[in-house]
Amino acid sequence: MIERTITWGPTYQEMLDPATLPPEARQEAVRARGNDLAPAGLFGISWSDVHSGRVRVLRLPPELTGVEANILVLVGRDFPSGSLKVGPAYAAVMEAELDGRIRPGEATLVAPTSGNFGIGMAYIARLKGYRALVLMPRGRSAERYERVGAYGAELELVDCEGGNLLPVLELLRQRYEGQPGYLPLNQFAMMANYRFHRFVTGRSALDAAAGFGDGRVAAFVAAPGSAGTLAAGDEIKARFPDAAVVAVEPVECATLAGRGCGSHPVEGIADGLVNLIHNVLNTDYVALVQGDDCLRGLRVVQEGPGVLTRILGVPEAAAHSLVGLFGPSSIANILGAIRTAAALGIAAGQNIVTVAPDGFDRYPSTIAALEESHPGLVDQAVLRQWAAQVFRNAAAGPLYDLRTAQEKQRLFLQKETVWPRLGYGQEILEAMKSPSYWEGEAARVADYDRRLREAREQDHREDAKTV
Ligand SMILES: Cc1ncc(COP(=O)(O)O)c(C=O)c1O
Repeated sequence: MIERTITWGPTYQEMLDPATLPPEARQEAVRARGNDLAPAGLFGISWSDVHSGRVRVLRLPPELTGVEANILVLVGRDFPSGSLKVGPAYAAVMEAELDGRIRPGEATLVAPTSGNFGIGMAYIARLKGYRALVLMPRGRSAERYERVGAYGAELELVDCEGGNLLPVLELLRQRYEGQPGYLPLNQFAMMANYRFHRFVTGRSALDAAAGFGDGRVAAFVAAPGSAGTLAAGDEIKARFPDAAVVAVEPVECATLAGRGCGSHPVEGIADGLVNLIHNVLNTDYVALVQGDDCLRGLRVVQEGPGVLTRILGVPEAAAHSLVGLFGPSSIANILGAIRTAAALGIAAGQNIVTVAPDGFDRYPSTIAALEESHPGLVDQAVLRQWAAQVFRNAAAGPLYDLRTAQEKQRLFLQKETVWPRLGYGQEILEAMKSPSYWEGEAARVADYDRRLREAREQDHREDAKTV
């Protein structure tokens, strides 16, 4: 039996479509907008604005992209806690509560992360009444560490070489798995992450695309960290089987493209792993981008019309509206989408969907470091050069083709070098080679939703009795 003290939040369906929220919860969530710590903030976990019910999406100005296809970006900055990663964090805790694995006040949630998942988990823990411990590599942006602390979570920093997050996962396994009082939430391996993105992100992407061009999705593009977001591609392919799913990697750490992993400057992506929850069967291509181009592109976008209008011809209002919306991984996704449009010849009126996982608020220190490392002043002349190079060069170059049986085999083998060491047996790795595994996991959304609605209703009845 589930304890009453649980603070319940939205179902998967309600996260997809806030119009299906109970009216009172929706009103409270509307009032909670902008107040991160209001308890009703949980009901604002959605790609859609809780008031209007519309997906937060923008079509990039074609002057910026230089390609004819529509590039549509789902905007993640306005999720509570400031990034899309709060969705998987919420889903993981919600599923664990419904499965009777944790109760508030009794468990410490342990989140391995390169940053945003930890911030999201710290936020969820605060609102739901859990302690949270965030395991993070050293050397990430100062804003990230501050944000984790501001929500009251503890931080444990781990030395990681290059972009590789494996030492964090090894620590999670050695120190916290099986420890009473701790619930390790391994985003790279937990199916709640897959379910959130498959159902909520995937269907939000489909809804968003319905309002543009031919209303279909020709390609979905996302740079994987945990590879949760890429699960949206599975849902998109279920509707449009010909859609291409493209993963983006920095050339410096191109694990999926089989080129090994070194350090790179794009936080949140390319952790050096083929993740357990990555359905590699459905990833068709890899777009490789230069890590520094993502930072330079971000710096240029933050400059607004000054550069974008003069050099690329982006209308002033459009250039203004982009300021603050993106982080480096958003730019990686945009550059990957431009490459996809060019390499696959995606035409005018067709839609490529991608995401902006978070906004600029957690990167001023990253951009300051970029400017410091630049030989000479980053003045208007440098910015003009970056604007011309970064966005136009993105279209040049091939996609790396992952569709062959040989490539799938390589990716399965890469999974086998990591996950058994972390406690995931050969049996699950074998099962994941079949599409039916992923369909089965996606189908569990309906069951969790039904149980969550019942739990909320039961609490409601008990509340009414005690009044
Ligand atoms: C800024 C940023 N971009 C992209 C990603 C990658 O998303 P996913 O973990 O769903 O693959 C993350 C994940 O933490 C992130 O923090």
